[in-house]
Amino acid sequence: MTQDLFEEEPLAYVAPQVMAPGAVLLRGFACDVEQALMHAVEQVTAAAPLRHLVTPGGYTMSVAMSNCGALGWVSDRTGYRYTGTDPLSGQPWPPMPDCFARLARRAAAEAGFGGFRPDACLVNCYEPGARLSLHQDKDEGDMSAPIVSVSLGLPAVFLFGTTRRKDRPARYRLVHGDVAVWGGPSRLAYHGVAPLAAGEHALLGRQRINLTFRCAA
Ligand code: SIN
Ligand code: FE2
Repeated sequence: MTQDLFEEEPLAYVAPQVMAPGAVLLRGFACDVEQALMHAVEQVTAAAPLRHLVTPGGYTMSVAMSNCGALGWVSDRTGYRYTGTDPLSGQPWPPMPDCFARLARRAAAEAGFGGFRPDACLVNCYEPGARLSLHQDKDEGDMSAPIVSVSLGLPAVFLFGTTRRKDRPARYRLVHGDVAVWGGPSRLAYHGVAPLAAGEHALLGRQRINLTFRCAA
């Protein structure tokens, strides 16, 4: 059985795949907890609905976002920042579900970053056509902690570059259950997501959900 013939199937996790120093892909790492994760995503987005944020430049993002944990990432005409409350409701962001925190900690440790305790989880929802342009995650207070990013639902092309914007990024196909971790020398690597191709995922339908864990404070 070759991987090419079965590329839609989530793979059972085997070992880290190196993208760059400090950056790995853990293929299929989240598969064993998919049901718990999906249930928790529903609970989080029921309390803090997905919404399309506006960038400081005035563009509405194609990715819909929410957050859980002590801090949540938001954007509006005044800039990007972390907040303790959801600007839509004025209430604290929903707490980070235990299954989220445990998975993120386990993935970070597998990638060589022990003791990861994220205080923020950005929930990104992509429908076909949605994309995320190349950017660095640089609004966080703790750059010694990695970013842990979990993919669920439709496959996506993840762009992962270097710390220099002008370097052409490598492309990785991320499928349901894949986890990417970047930290250390790759912590400020440029990354993004190519426009999502149309499709139908067996569990999530016409969407991709991405959970991105950070130490924001
Ligand atoms: C992000 O950079 O916040 C999200 C990356 C992804 O959706 O894979
Ligand atoms: Fe990012």
